Amino acid sequence: MEEQVYSMPRIGEKAPLFKATTTQGEINFPTDYQGSWVILFSHPADFTPVCTSEFMTFANMESKFAEANCKLVGLSVDGLYSHIAWLRTIKEKIEYKGMKDVEVKFPLIEDITMEVAKKYGMMMPGESNTKAVRAVFFVDPTGTIRAIIYYPLSLGRNFDELYRALIAMQTADVFSVATPADWYPGDEVIVPTAGSCGVAKERMESADQNTKCYDWFFCTSKLDKDQVEKALLKQYNQ
Ligand code: BEZ
Repeated sequence: MEEQVYSMPRIGEKAPLFKATTTQGEINFPTDYQGSWVILFSHPADFTPVCTSEFMTFANMESKFAEANCKLVGLSVDGLYSHIAWLRTIKEKIEYKGMKDVEVKFPLIEDITMEVAKKYGMMMPGESNTKAVRAVFFVDPTGTIRAIIYYPLSLGRNFDELYRALIAMQTADVFSVATPADWYPGDEVIVPTAGSCGVAKERMESADQNTKCYDWFFCTSKLDKDQVEKALLKQYNQ
C-alpha cells in the first residue's frame, strides 16, 4: 500500500486556514484570533492520563496566557461528545497535584476526519496511525506560525516552557533582540549580530555600561524584567 504523505506547515508561513467544531462552538482558524497570539496544540486522545494532566495544567494557566494576549486551542481526533464527556469528568472527578474542579474553557476541536491534524502535520504514522502526537503551534497576531514543538505520545509537555517561549518571542519582537539559552525575563538579551566590519569594530571598541561583548558576533545587553513586562503589556494589552 502506498504510504500516506502528510503536509507540515513551517515556521514563518501563514497558519493554514480551517473551520472546525469545538467544545466552545464553531471557530475559523486563525481568522478568529487575528490580533492576538494563539497556541494550537494537539493531544493523542481523550480519557487518557497524560492528556488529562496536560489539560488540567493548561486550563489552570489559561489566565496567565490570556494576560500575555495569548489564547489556547486544543485538538484531538476524537468526536465532540467524547470531548464534552472528558472535560466534564475532569471538572467533576479529577484531583491532581492540588488542582481540582478544573474547567477547561478554551475550545477543544473535534477532528474525527483528521482533516486538521493532517493539514498541520500532527499525524506521525511512525508514532501512531490513529492518534495525533503532542504538537504545539505558536501563531502570532498576524496569523504567522512562529514556533513549532513536537512531543511523542508518552511525554507530557512542560507548560512553563511554552509560556517562556511565548514571552521570549514577544520580547524579541518588541525589543528587536534575540534571547539566549534558558532566557527568562530579567536576563540579558542578545543584540543583533554586527552586519558590517565597521559595526563589529565599533562594538568591540566602544564600551557601554549596558552592553557586553564576548566577541564581535556575540554581544548581550541588559533588559530589566519590569521593562519587559511594561513593554509587553503596552504592546499586547492596549
Ligand atoms: C496519555 O495521554 O496518557 C497517552 C495517550 C496516548 C498514548 C500514550 C499515553
